[in-house]
Amino acid sequence: MYEVMIMAAHKVVCWECGAEIEDAYVNLCPKCKGLLTVKMDLTKVQEMKPADLRKTPIGVWRYAPFMPVDPENKVSIQEGGTPLYECKALGEAVGVPGAHVKFEGLNPTGSFKDRGMTMGVSHAKELGATVVGCASTGNTSAALAAYASKAGMQCAVFLPSGKVAMGKLAQALFFGAKVLSVDGNFDDALALARKMHDEKKLYLLNSINPYRPEGQKSVLFEIIDQLNYHNDKFVDIPDRVILPVGNAANIWAVYKACMELKEAGWIDKVPKLTGIQAAGASPVANAFQGGSLDFIAEPNPETVATAIRIGNPISGKKALKAMYDTGGYCTTVTDAEIIEAQLLLGRTEGVCVEPASAASVAGLKKLRAEGIIDKDEKVVCICTGNGLKDPDTILANVPQPIPCRNEVADVERILKETA
Ligand SMILES: Cc1ncc(COP(=O)(O)O)c(C=O)c1O
Ligand SMILES: [Zn+2]
Repeated sequence: MYEVMIMAAHKVVCWECGAEIEDAYVNLCPKCKGLLTVKMDLTKVQEMKPADLRKTPIGVWRYAPFMPVDPENKVSIQEGGTPLYECKALGEAVGVPGAHVKFEGLNPTGSFKDRGMTMGVSHAKELGATVVGCASTGNTSAALAAYASKAGMQCAVFLPSGKVAMGKLAQALFFGAKVLSVDGNFDDALALARKMHDEKKLYLLNSINPYRPEGQKSVLFEIIDQLNYHNDKFVDIPDRVILPVGNAANIWAVYKACMELKEAGWIDKVPKLTGIQAAGASPVANAFQGGSLDFIAEPNPETVATAIRIGNPISGKKALKAMYDTGGYCTTVTDAEIIEAQLLLGRTEGVCVEPASAASVAGLKKLRAEGIIDKDEKVVCICTGNGLKDPDTILANVPQPIPCRNEVADVERILKETA
């Protein structure tokens, strides 16, 4: 229907040594064990303008010419197209009037993972895969379970036992995935899922699969598309984008989107990419603070933000490059700062995000207080998941319901006492 609904030609290459990878079941370079990435051929995009894409509705597939999967094969539940809020009250509270929130919790399964899964599962369909799987701190499994249902594929998810938020577990079970509760943490669950993939017993859709971050690039395309568009140009590029960092693929995806928009000639400035980790799970932040290009894995990560409770982030090296190259930053926030930021966002803007997502807001507050973020910056915090995914954490940090007699006078008494 639309002339622009094309995919770009692309190759899968080793991110470290550049070797071309032909085998779709290889997810580390056979020569150097490096991470893989997709190299897009953007020559067609260079002849296009943003207006050509704006003929299709906002969402992941609006940006098909930047994506490595043919839209003919798409498995979609209308992911992306999430709101970008201008957050005046939050901005006032933290001292950054130009604060914005991109609320990824309004994706179909309630997190940004849907952006990667529409691409990953569509590619699995192209390959003819019938069984897909992933290890997950929760959101990835919820997203994969939904997209596998839509595609009619069998799905197995590997979760660290007892450490997955209730809403996410419920979603994976609801969509009919085989939910395997692995004795260990996320890193252990991923090792098991990778063994299954290496033996070709399933097609792995963790972010080590290079097609996943390709879909996740769309969040940055959307932010720039939503901010200000004038005279056939993207004219308003944020000074900074802040993201929570766990396995570290999302910040890499956002960086890749920036580089491709630059290569296409559609932007000439790149936001400072700023990653936030929980203090109890902070290998990437520690590496950044030490000026290192690689990180040291942490054996026992722990944080209330279970989505980013990861000690050995697969894409940690890529994330470090993203932050160094853009003049960005990386720091940690404590669990107390995360919970405080979660409530602050709810009480100032009416937006309910999960703890990992609140890490980006906690990071905004901390880095402004430290003077790393200037008060005049236009900043977008990517709030990656919906607060309803983890009601237990919310209920542990808000007042309990107030017992009340069935009488107007008692309501009045309570309202007066708690004013
Ligand atoms: C809500 C939420 N935020 C942030 C992250 C971290 O993203 P990444 O692992 O790509 O760094 C995750 C990953 O599971 C998540 O579920
Ligand atoms: Zn290599």
